[in-house]
Amino acid sequence: MNLHSMLLYWLFLRCVPGVLCLAPIPGIYAVGAAVTSFGIASFNLVFCRFYECCDDRWIVNNITGLQIDLKKRLYGQHLVQKVVTSHIQGHVRTPDPHKALVLSFHGPTGTGKNHVSQIVAEMLYKKGLKSENVRLIAVTKEFPHAEMVPLYKDQLREMIEKQVKKCGQSLFIFDEVDKMPGGLLDTIKPYLDHYEELGGVDYRHAIFVFLSNAGGTAITQYALDQWKEGSHREDIKLAAVERILAKAAINSESQGGLWHSELISKHLVTAFLPFLPLERTFVRQCIRDQLVLKRHYPSLEEIPEVIVEEVMQELSFYPEKEQLFSVTGCKRVPEKVDLVMLS
Ligand SMILES: *[C@@H]1O[C@H](CO)[C@@H](O)[C@H](O)[C@H]1NC(C)=O
Repeated sequence: MNLHSMLLYWLFLRCVPGVLCLAPIPGIYAVGAAVTSFGIASFNLVFCRFYECCDDRWIVNNITGLQIDLKKRLYGQHLVQKVVTSHIQGHVRTPDPHKALVLSFHGPTGTGKNHVSQIVAEMLYKKGLKSENVRLIAVTKEFPHAEMVPLYKDQLREMIEKQVKKCGQSLFIFDEVDKMPGGLLDTIKPYLDHYEELGGVDYRHAIFVFLSNAGGTAITQYALDQWKEGSHREDIKLAAVERILAKAAINSESQGGLWHSELISKHLVTAFLPFLPLERTFVRQCIRDQLVLKRHYPSLEEIPEVIVEEVMQELSFYPEKEQLFSVTGCKRVPEKVDLVMLS
């Protein structure tokens, strides 16, 4: 036995073989452990300054900013504004939430579903949608073939597990979730449930946002009826629209997707949020924002009304008689602004 291995024996087994056992030297272990953890900690300190980590340097959870931005940058969605903030605030400020937060956004095209999920990403994560802890899943693009569902299931499972293992507070945004091939959404069901852990991973800090047009027609009809009865848009109550959504869900003929899954029956969705169709005044606000955003005007105050009207002329409204709501909400506003300003 050479000196080196004897030293190792002595350090780790605290014995000199065949001779005697020396008194253990815990100090050495403590120093070793301290040096190691100090090394890791200072490495992280430097690394996480420059590269995104799962810590509060990068996960900023700016609830005040969320509140302000939803108020300032989202038009005509009084129901969404309040409910989104309160659910997210409740979730991220709870040390141990009892399940993942699941928000389901419903409504016609261009009413702000993508916009809100972007604002949420920006206010929770420093890098917004570009964050490594935010996953935007465009369903029609990523899962186009119904016959490949078994493969998609594995991919989806792996993606979620890897992601949440890496960072507990991950944000998953599923766009056009109503077009998800049948059964696929059920794959993620366990991650939304109340399990303390699955395979050693705790999914309860995760946030899932589902975007869909499902129920859009029913929401629009309700908003139209309310308008005809002369009630204010702001008087529309969440409970009333939720009832309509639930009814539309049961009667929905759309294949697969959210409506036929067990998400609803098992109460895995924290909240269903209706996005109302946009009336003219809200579309005008979107147009003004775009005119400034695209630097055609330095500020909102300097935009001439005729320009806004010119863009409005390029958009379609319905119903035919009342010309009340924008057919595409604010969705086509950017291109119409270009059309008017650059031609
Ligand atoms: C939160 O967001 C608001 C609005 O965008 C911003 O003004 C504020 O500086 C942010 N706060 C933090 C702590 O990042």
